[in-house]
Amino acid sequence: MTDTLSSAHPYDNVLPDLLRHADNMKWTKYGQDVLPLWVADMDFPVAPAILDALHQRLERSLGYYQMMGDPDLKALLIDKLGRDGLTGLKPEGLSFLPGVVPGLYAAVQGLTEPGDEVLIFTPSYPPFLSAVTDHGRVSREVPLRLTPQGYELDMPALEGAVTSRTKLLMLCHPHNPTGRVWTADELRELADFAARHELYVVSDELHADLRFSDAPAFIPFASQDDATAQRTVTLTGPCKTYNVAGLGIGAMLSHNAELVARLERSVKGIMGHPGGLSVTMWRSALTGGAQWRTQTLAYLQANRDFLAQFLASELPSVPFAAPQATYLAWLDLRGHPRAADIQQFLLDEARIALNDGPTFGQGYQGFVRLNFATSRELLQDGLERLAGAVKGL
Ligand SMILES: Cc1ncc(COP(=O)(O)O)c(C=O)c1O
Repeated sequence: MTDTLSSAHPYDNVLPDLLRHADNMKWTKYGQDVLPLWVADMDFPVAPAILDALHQRLERSLGYYQMMGDPDLKALLIDKLGRDGLTGLKPEGLSFLPGVVPGLYAAVQGLTEPGDEVLIFTPSYPPFLSAVTDHGRVSREVPLRLTPQGYELDMPALEGAVTSRTKLLMLCHPHNPTGRVWTADELRELADFAARHELYVVSDELHADLRFSDAPAFIPFASQDDATAQRTVTLTGPCKTYNVAGLGIGAMLSHNAELVARLERSVKGIMGHPGGLSVTMWRSALTGGAQWRTQTLAYLQANRDFLAQFLASELPSVPFAAPQATYLAWLDLRGHPRAADIQQFLLDEARIALNDGPTFGQGYQGFVRLNFATSRELLQDGLERLAGAVKGL
């Protein structure tokens, strides 16, 4: 296990009493004695650069801002995405969103018709599924396979799921909840598959900046070649990396500006725009957030290693693949006698709140998702509660 942390890391001092306030969903949904390890927030404070920028903005004004798409933020984001490998984006191919989930919905609305089918790898971040089914489209769920190397794409199953009504493939890269960063070979296979079946692709790359040092190199899906770029809409935002979900903002972007325009038209007048403070926040994250991100990532990676070692020693029969990115762990507790209501069982018996498997797709009863973006002490407490309840201690 690698532990790069000193004992005096500021994130060791996560204080439940400070977090448990009305503005915080994670810490208030369940009872006071419940340790919340569910929704994907971090328990860590906001980056100093972001706090400073927000203070200054509040002192300046709160009038209308560049609602049609702040050119400075666009330039910063295009530059950042270029450094990530997504070069050649034009400002007209980038549009801001009040959050990434609205972008998932806009993509389904804009790129498919009612009755069309959409391919989704499961387990899946739940709004992928609801974005499809809430508006009369049909989701085709394609389960990932757990192999000794970790979660993998099942290409034969993906091929088998295509019909003449299939229009769109929704990819999560890195993947929530397994934490997979898809490799060059996997992305190539998916790009060839999309080309063969003439599918649009939405690639949600919201977790891309939370990759651990041992993850494969990150390749933006649309960066693979021109034809792939032309059929792809990429979604991104700052909320996972900088723990700023309360200030909703995201972006949809494509080398094919007409696709972005199509998404905009499909939700015109309904979508809304991000608030001015969120624009200030994202700009400051991109210009001054690097050090905070590096420190946070190191803490998360050490937490991941701690979690993996804990499971290996205390719950060795629980199938688990350590995530390559982000702060979510996908646990297979189907072997437990209470697998049929495992989330409720752990809430009642262990007083820990986890996300329930069935919300991630069909066939995931008995699975739970655990968020390890908290202090080491609280993570250890949560894991001990989990192991105690699972082993029936
Ligand atoms: C893959 C993915 N997309 C989107 C979101 C939510 O984005 P937003 O809060 O900006 O709507 C999440 C949140 O966990 C996520 O994991």
